[in-house]
Amino acid sequence: MKIKKAVIPVAGKGTRFLPATKEIPKEMIPILNTPMISIVVEEAVKAGITEIIFVNSRGKESIENYFDRNLHLESFLKEADKNDQELLIKNIGSNVEVLSVRQKEQLGLGHAINCARPLIGNEPFAVLLGDDIMDGEVPGIKQLIDKYEELSCSGVIGLFEVPKSETSKYGIIEGEKKAEGLFKLNAMVEKPTPKDAPSNLAVPGRYVFDSEIFVFLDKIPRGVGGEYQLTDAIEMMAKERDVYGAILDGTRFDTGSMEGYLEATIAYASRDEKLKKVIVDSVKKYT
Ligand code: UTP
Repeated sequence: MKIKKAVIPVAGKGTRFLPATKEIPKEMIPILNTPMISIVVEEAVKAGITEIIFVNSRGKESIENYFDRNLHLESFLKEADKNDQELLIKNIGSNVEVLSVRQKEQLGLGHAINCARPLIGNEPFAVLLGDDIMDGEVPGIKQLIDKYEELSCSGVIGLFEVPKSETSKYGIIEGEKKAEGLFKLNAMVEKPTPKDAPSNLAVPGRYVFDSEIFVFLDKIPRGVGGEYQLTDAIEMMAKERDVYGAILDGTRFDTGSMEGYLEATIAYASRDEKLKKVIVDSVKKYT
């Protein structure tokens, strides 16, 4: 079955970006002039996704509004003869259906994904985290969709290699190598010390699951921090079904953290010669 739906959980509180996130959703903070969530949605659309399901929460309605038309602004830009800008804002969200569900209490990523269940039904689906940017020639989520369609399995999760000394910052997998860059998942460990880490393969926010994942999301108890952890459901699923991990080609930016956000901003700005010069000059001047 072709994967047409993607769930993007955006209901979190974004405490690492306070005070900005007191009023602005973390996912709406821009990399230059483009909100992070827009970059993530674009990745999904390029991968052939036609339906985005946001799992959202109170106060973060601007995420849904961003993908809606703003007729008032469009007519203002038209009258001002700002045709490029008019087209730019008209096109946002025009090539994808955007739906949303509410996560009434922020009980963790596993809980957030379970909230999308009524809109998924029995179909396989993709999951992209709204605060993780994957940059590369082939969209990260497309690489996983292709693998899912090629292997007859219940799920494929994205992986990237990290230095062994940094395993305590990530979810790390234990798996059996099946081919170059492909692992059959046995276990997942949250933030292990380098000594305890079963590998150096970390999990960024990209996944593909069949609807069986909901069975396991129903079974998991509250985990770390009293939250329902997606990691726990994936591990439970991997014990009973075939779940794979695939190393993603491309660069991953953890834009949910200040460091990753800054790095992404510099990477994106460097693609424009004028902005690249500003970066180089500023580094000389201020560092
Ligand atoms: P994070 O833990 O990185 O996001 O969750 P957060 O909770 O918003 O941020 P911090 O750590 O307090 O700064 C990863 C993604 O999962 C969503 C978040 O919105 C984020 O995009 N999420 C997390 C939910 O939708 N619901 C939750 O209960 C938790």
